[in-house]
Amino acid sequence: MKHALKECNNKYTMTQLEERAVRIFDHLATAVLLFDEKLHLVSINSAGENLLSLSSKRLLGKTPGEVWPNTPFFTDAIKNSFQFATTRIERGIEMQLINQNTIKVDCIFTPLLIDEVTKEILVELVSADAFVRVMQEFNQETVQKAAKESVQGMAHEIKNPLGGIRGAAQLMEKELDDKSLLEYTNIIINESDRLRNFVDRMMAANTHPVKSETNIHEIVEYVVSIISAESSRNLNIQKDYDPSIPSIFADREQLIQAVLNLLRNAVQATKEDESILIRTRIQRQITIQNKLNRLAVQIDIIDNGPGIPAEIESGVFYPMVTGHAGGTGLGLSIAQQLIQSHGGKINYERKENCTYFSILFPIEHGNAK
Ligand SMILES: Nc1ncnc2c1ncn2[C@@H]1O[C@H](COP(=O)(O)OP(=O)(O)OP(=O)(O)O)[C@@H](O)[C@H]1O
Ligand SMILES: [Mg+2]
Repeated sequence: MKHALKECNNKYTMTQLEERAVRIFDHLATAVLLFDEKLHLVSINSAGENLLSLSSKRLLGKTPGEVWPNTPFFTDAIKNSFQFATTRIERGIEMQLINQNTIKVDCIFTPLLIDEVTKEILVELVSADAFVRVMQEFNQETVQKAAKESVQGMAHEIKNPLGGIRGAAQLMEKELDDKSLLEYTNIIINESDRLRNFVDRMMAANTHPVKSETNIHEIVEYVVSIISAESSRNLNIQKDYDPSIPSIFADREQLIQAVLNLLRNAVQATKEDESILIRTRIQRQITIQNKLNRLAVQIDIIDNGPGIPAEIESGVFYPMVTGHAGGTGLGLSIAQQLIQSHGGKINYERKENCTYFSILFPIEHGNAK
């Protein structure tokens, strides 16, 4: 090990090693914060900024009491680590964020010693909720993939004979002497068409994305214009965009379809006095489809309607799960498939009496311009 380290030191100059250390620090999935002897925050990585929902600019120089104003545990734990120079591990600590949300974290406090004296305390934070969520998503993706494959198989089996049924009904229509029977052939033709449209919608989500440079705000604005035109009432749609979000590489039509399905659901779920908020944000160090992404775009569609009926909530992304009498239950499953085929995902959450649907879309190398 010593030998390997020596080799490393020979291979890199000190500046290169420092740059490397900074790069590693910033790419860690674990939130890391460093406090000096005066209890001032001297370093924080991107995962830390992300977890605390605050930028390093606003956090550096702050004391633990200012970083966690509502969680005195951290001040005590950091002082304690300085005093006793021992590593402390705590699980399931409830930490209140700036937006008043509370999350559970596992924490490690490690004293950094120079000449046997504690100079700094390293605080590592891992969101326990995030781990549980990743496991739930993994299970959900597996089940969804199986459901998608069986739906695809069924779709083929349904579509093939449909053409024959429709054609036979048309031939029969021409041969009928008793025109009062036309009512029945019309039913066969119309219902065959309805079924074919249904199957086509299901299959449309499986087409490969044709990607080009796409501005998500332009997409969202376009979808809002479609929704406003098709709605018979005045819609209260508020917008909160982050203008710094770069262009992404995406299939424009598919992205429109996905956002449209989510926004249409929100409109259907809300009444005149309720509202919808469309919010765009950049997310850092975020896991999507088991892959840690440095940067991602998040599009939230939030409404303060009554939420998804409890009996369908757990299966809402599966095809043919609907809470409406006339609904086909395809909107969310199609949107999820379209976003997943771009390497993204859609999350659903109900909190503070609002329904949150969040599209997360990775910005990778070559994905942003
Ligand atoms: N924002 C929302 N608020 C409340 N319920 C919702 C919301 N979004 C979806 N739902 C519920 O989830 C169900 C499934 O939605 P999904 O879009 O998949 O199908 P659908 O809207 O029923 O039919 P369609 O295929 O026409 O979209 C809806 O029927 C509705 O009950
Ligand atoms: Mg829908």
